[in-house]
Amino acid sequence: MKILHVAGSPRSRSRSRRLAKAFLDALGEEDVDTLDVWTATLPDLGGDTVESRYRLIHGLPVEMDHTRRWGEIRRVADHAMAHDLWLISTPMWNFGLPYRLKHWVDCIVHPGMTFTNDASGAVTGLAKGKTAVLVGAGALDFTDGVPEAVYDHQMRYLDLILRFIGMEDVHIVRAAPTFGPEETVAAAEAKAEAELRAIAETIRTRAGAPG
Ligand SMILES: Cc1cc2nc3c(=O)[nH]c(=O)nc-3n(C[C@H](O)[C@H](O)[C@H](O)COP(=O)(O)O)c2cc1C
Repeated sequence: MKILHVAGSPRSRSRSRRLAKAFLDALGEEDVDTLDVWTATLPDLGGDTVESRYRLIHGLPVEMDHTRRWGEIRRVADHAMAHDLWLISTPMWNFGLPYRLKHWVDCIVHPGMTFTNDASGAVTGLAKGKTAVLVGAGALDFTDGVPEAVYDHQMRYLDLILRFIGMEDVHIVRAAPTFGPEETVAAAEAKAEAELRAIAETIRTRAGAPG
């Protein structure tokens, strides 16, 4: 199993990254490719580059001038697609993702890279068969079921975009709230860690099961 950890927090004391590490420890896999979106070089998607994406949507090649830039973008998408398990850890920032993590998403979600579309607009995801484990930390608790869950553009968005590119096996773990009384925060983190350990166990068992 090839594992990619996309780390979305810039903090050295990141809670989401610590939990991601606990998941990897429980999984027992040492060969993990880590993409820290804060140190990685991600290609810009501006002006003409974005304009030529409309050519891709229509099944046309990008213009010569933009081939190099699209080559860089394709490398980021291909890198992700070369892995079977995507572990994405992230804080919630302003109800959504830190912009560098969103930048990574904008680099990988393109026609011919992570999905295809036909002339009518029907989309087929190319990431089918892969597994995602999402670890989201947030000061406030927006767990599904609470009225404030409508504010969640972090885990809900990641879940949606991964399903858009064809993933069906998406596990979501929230560590929240990370603000408030010490015992409450500690309990939220312990709960998230226990959930991650259980997911790791399921994946380990499945990987070891005869096909
Ligand atoms: C710029 C910024 C924006 C934030 N916005 C939110 C928010 O909208 N909702 C929330 O619950 N927490 C918000 N937080 C708090 C973080 O999500 C929280 O501290 C989280 O535990 C950090 O995770 P990390 O340690 O992995 O970076 C914000 C923090 C920062 C730095």
